[in-house]
Amino acid sequence: MDSTLWDERYAAKDYVWTVTVNQFVEANLASLEPGTAVDLAAGEGRNAVWLAARGWKVTAVDFSKVGLEKAQRLAADNDVEIETVQADALTWEPETPVDLVVLSYLQLPTEQRLTVLDHARNWLNPGGTLFVIAHDRRNVNGGYGGPQSPEVCYDPAETVAALVGLDVVTAEVAERHVTTDDGPKTALDTLVVARRPA
Ligand SMILES: C[S@@+](CC[C@H](N)C(=O)[O-])C[C@H]1O[C@@H](n2cnc3c(N)ncnc32)[C@H](O)[C@@H]1O
Repeated sequence: MDSTLWDERYAAKDYVWTVTVNQFVEANLASLEPGTAVDLAAGEGRNAVWLAARGWKVTAVDFSKVGLEKAQRLAADNDVEIETVQADALTWEPETPVDLVVLSYLQLPTEQRLTVLDHARNWLNPGGTLFVIAHDRRNVNGGYGGPQSPEVCYDPAETVAALVGLDVVTAEVAERHVTTDDGPKTALDTLVVARRPA
């Protein structure tokens, strides 16, 4: 989907996603000492705002202007500040290295996905953390919701292989339990946490 389609999607409803932090972001990043962070493809800002509330200096990047306007609204509603940058995740670069990069459900075709992972691993300060959560390829046939094209889905081993030079902390297929009108369902996500050696 291009930025126009994302703008339309974000304009259609109040918030498309939840306004609360992703459960895996919370579980894996709550214990980190705050520093500088990039939330790449931040959307409506749920993770960026949560990080900012914990003391992180967050730059939220997305190519959707409407999504970022909602991220700023969510930040204001939570009495925190975030920097928002409207840019393409494939070409944008931070001016200086950061302590944390969050990639949350940025589902891109393989070549673009590997490019983004390669860029993101190079943005980290020594000791910095790269956090990836995304729809896993196994979800297409074995899980709930998410994109139906395996091409835009992640895999823990493929993600780890792209993160040359980082130490892997976690690499797994994580189950996300979802309540639906048809009862409880399970979605399968790729979860990878990796750190640049100090
Ligand atoms: C599924 S949403 C996830 C939003 C947010 N990370 C979250 O977890 O709530 C995917 C986001 O990726 C953004 N996106 C997709 N391709 C992008 C690109 N090439 N550059 C910047 N943003 C992009 C979309 O605008 C959308 O906000």
